[in-house]
Amino acid sequence: MKRLTKNKYVPLIKILLLLTVFIYSCIDKTEKKETPIYEEAVLNETDKKEPIKKLSAGAKLFIQCAACHNLKKGEPNKVGPNLNGIFGRKAGSYEGFIYSDALKVSNIVWDENHIRNWLEKPSDYIPGTTMAFIGIANKEQQDALIKYLKEETK
Ligand code: HEC
Repeated sequence: MKRLTKNKYVPLIKILLLLTVFIYSCIDKTEKKETPIYEEAVLNETDKKEPIKKLSAGAKLFIQCAACHNLKKGEPNKVGPNLNGIFGRKAGSYEGFIYSDALKVSNIVWDENHIRNWLEKPSDYIPGTTMAFIGIANKEQQDALIKYLKEETK
């Protein structure tokens, strides 16, 4: 009698074990579904046409300027003025933008040298400027950004 009742439960226990294994494997799969592509999404916002790997060094550096500056003709001013045609342009002269007095009276005509010094640390080069940007100390990065600006602001 005793043996018979024991045997009755064996298949039930087997099924329970199988169910437990099955449920565990399901949980594992759902947890592995995360694929973060956050960085790519952020960069694509700035330059929708080109995928992340194709951006030049200068284009990547400009991402930090893009919050405040447009580059192309006819595009609106942002927090900072549109930089179209910046090389050869008199500082503080872009139409429709309200500049600081410091920049307006600076008497600078932007060339490579002025832009380099400006990028190095704007608040040191033209004290009183309202451009809130810490600066880029690395010379190679300055080179890359200047090259990019030359091409993109034509
Ligand atoms: C937080 C916003 C902000 C960021 C970021 C910023 N700028 Fe500016 N930029 C300004 C403002 C505001 C001015 C006008 C400054 C003034 O009137 O004193 C300006 C002015 C300039 C000018 C002079 C324009 C003119 O018409 O004389 C240049 C060149 C320039 N920025 C380049 C850059 C570059 C390159 C970067 C990225 C490395 C950058 N800026 C990042 C806000 C910004």
